[in-house]
Amino acid sequence: MQVIHTIAELRQVLAAQPRRAFVPTMGNLHDGHLDLVRQGRAAVGPDALVVASIFVNRLQFAPHEDFDRYPRTLARDAELLQGAGCDLVFAPDERELYPEPQGYKVHPPAELADILEGHFRPGFFIGVCTVVAKLFNIVQPSLALFGKKDYQQLMVLRRMVAQMALPIEIRAGETTRSAEGLALSSRNGYLSEAEKTEALRLSRTLRELIARWQAGARDLAALEAEALQSLRDAGWQPDYLTLRCQHDLSPAREGQALVALGAAKLGTTRLIDNLEL
Ligand code: PAJ
Repeated sequence: MQVIHTIAELRQVLAAQPRRAFVPTMGNLHDGHLDLVRQGRAAVGPDALVVASIFVNRLQFAPHEDFDRYPRTLARDAELLQGAGCDLVFAPDERELYPEPQGYKVHPPAELADILEGHFRPGFFIGVCTVVAKLFNIVQPSLALFGKKDYQQLMVLRRMVAQMALPIEIRAGETTRSAEGLALSSRNGYLSEAEKTEALRLSRTLRELIARWQAGARDLAALEAEALQSLRDAGWQPDYLTLRCQHDLSPAREGQALVALGAAKLGTTRLIDNLEL
């Protein structure tokens, strides 16, 4: 496996092999990322390339967020990627990807990108779409894989690829969880042992929200308020806990496939999770 830091070198290496799967990441890898790499390998077979990128993208962090303390663990990440069957790692530094201020940006539509995560992290999906579009142009994959853990991100990127007619198939990976049920996240590393146990409350609260809906409760505002309160009572600062339609993230309606989504801060760590019904 090769670790490549420049666009020019990557293009040279890629020229020899037209078909490739791509897994973009911000590094500090865990089994959720590695499952996407394995899924990519299984999809393209042994002869095509599996490429992963590692880049902590400043554009998708607000000034008060954790850009500076986001863990950078390239050597360990490269070992893990090799073990998962990755062929190439693209790990540019900031000057390589953004040699001048990135004035051209991809603005996703408000109805999809200014709700939920985008409401609480304004500009987040502009940063995500811009870097992913740029990485797609550099890597030119035929297949790209994203996790359902970041449910809205997956949806925003799928729509970008469709509307911009990019010749890339997008595949979703299921959320990888710890044995206890905690959705794996690079940010879990910020949690103390006690907080890791407490963190399970987020998915539990989403399951309760689903159970209330399935038991016939239909007052969404009341259901959400109840869920928010139960997290607050346990000392969390929730951003949202909600039940939405899977296809467009509009509020839950009878007869639609639904997903429960939540984001909340436990201490100084912001966690997100979701469960499809
Ligand atoms: P990052 O948080 O590193 O995640 C990279 C990919 O791994 C994303 O597709 C994410 O959904 C997936 N992933 C993370 N945790 C997962 C889990 N527990 N189970 C399954 N998949 C999981 O998401 C980003 O980086 C960035 O926004 C990026 C797309 C790279 C753009 O900068």
